[in-house]
Amino acid sequence: MATGEAHRIVDVENVKQYTFSTEPVPRLSCSDPEAEKRIANDQPVVLTDTNLVTSALHWNEAFLRTHIGDGKFTVFTSDSHKFLYYDDKKLKFVPNFKPPTRHLEMTFDQFIDKIEDKNNSKWYYLQQGLNDTVGTQIVFDFMGFNWSWITEQQKKNGWGTLTSNLLFLGMDGVITPCHYDEQQNFFAQIKGYKRFLLFDQDMFECLYPYPVFHPHDRQSQVDFDNPDFEKFPKFRNLKGLETVLGPGDVLFLPTYWWHQVESLPGLGNTLSVNFWYKAGPVEKIVYPLTSQQKVSMMRNIEKMITDALNNTAEVAPFFQNLVVGRYT
Ligand code: OGA
Ligand code: ZN
Repeated sequence: MATGEAHRIVDVENVKQYTFSTEPVPRLSCSDPEAEKRIANDQPVVLTDTNLVTSALHWNEAFLRTHIGDGKFTVFTSDSHKFLYYDDKKLKFVPNFKPPTRHLEMTFDQFIDKIEDKNNSKWYYLQQGLNDTVGTQIVFDFMGFNWSWITEQQKKNGWGTLTSNLLFLGMDGVITPCHYDEQQNFFAQIKGYKRFLLFDQDMFECLYPYPVFHPHDRQSQVDFDNPDFEKFPKFRNLKGLETVLGPGDVLFLPTYWWHQVESLPGLGNTLSVNFWYKAGPVEKIVYPLTSQQKVSMMRNIEKMITDALNNTAEVAPFFQNLVVGRYT
């Protein structure tokens, strides 16, 4: 497929329709000044010719099985194709919490055996930071990533350090439900096709994130397949962007942008690597504040009050007494 095409044409029958509308994310060459502008302004963009992971485009299940080593990998398992993330460290705050997925540690061999076992009805999703237990072939390809391009982006945009490269190996049809992360992300597709639904920080109120103390912090409470409009009426106002990444494509996914990630059904397993960078320090405060800065402030205030009250049940009444009837 030629690079720089406006849309990636993917032949899929079952692309799920949702209740909200989306516009396409621009697909641009990384030498296009418009692409540079979007990155500098924290706007998502798909870059078609970064060569960021060209050295890894030959990776597949068999290659990784031979070369990735016998270290243990983090694998999530779920009874459904959806993998709603949760934070182990926050389990104590919600006593009756039922984890929707389980975290397992297993070798790469064991993982492949699971996903290839036709009698196993469970779903599996490998999500592991690339580390020094991998074999020399993988290290070689990793060193062949386009580090000069990405490091240039990091410098130009004043980001902090690279915190991790997460390797994702998902079964055909897996979904990572809508959430946001607190880091800048260049997301590189290696094999298969992933659909991204993206929403900017102004959509915060339409997506109803769980409380910050909750294990599902940063995740939307809304079930996209069956939205409860009574409980979440502003979900009707949701509008987003969408794109499909194929091998070699790189999505710039800015901090606090909401995203749902779907391995398109019928097109095979998917393999991706992300590049997570700490967001840069704020040089100078400019008013009005950005929605990104406001989300960050809300998180900090929520954390501070939750800590100070030392009882999660008191958080909602506290904020209600502060605001309702006074500021409303
Ligand atoms: C991410 C992310 C999920 C996936 O890279 O931030 O949420 O399924 N990825 O690829
Ligand atoms: Zn994410």
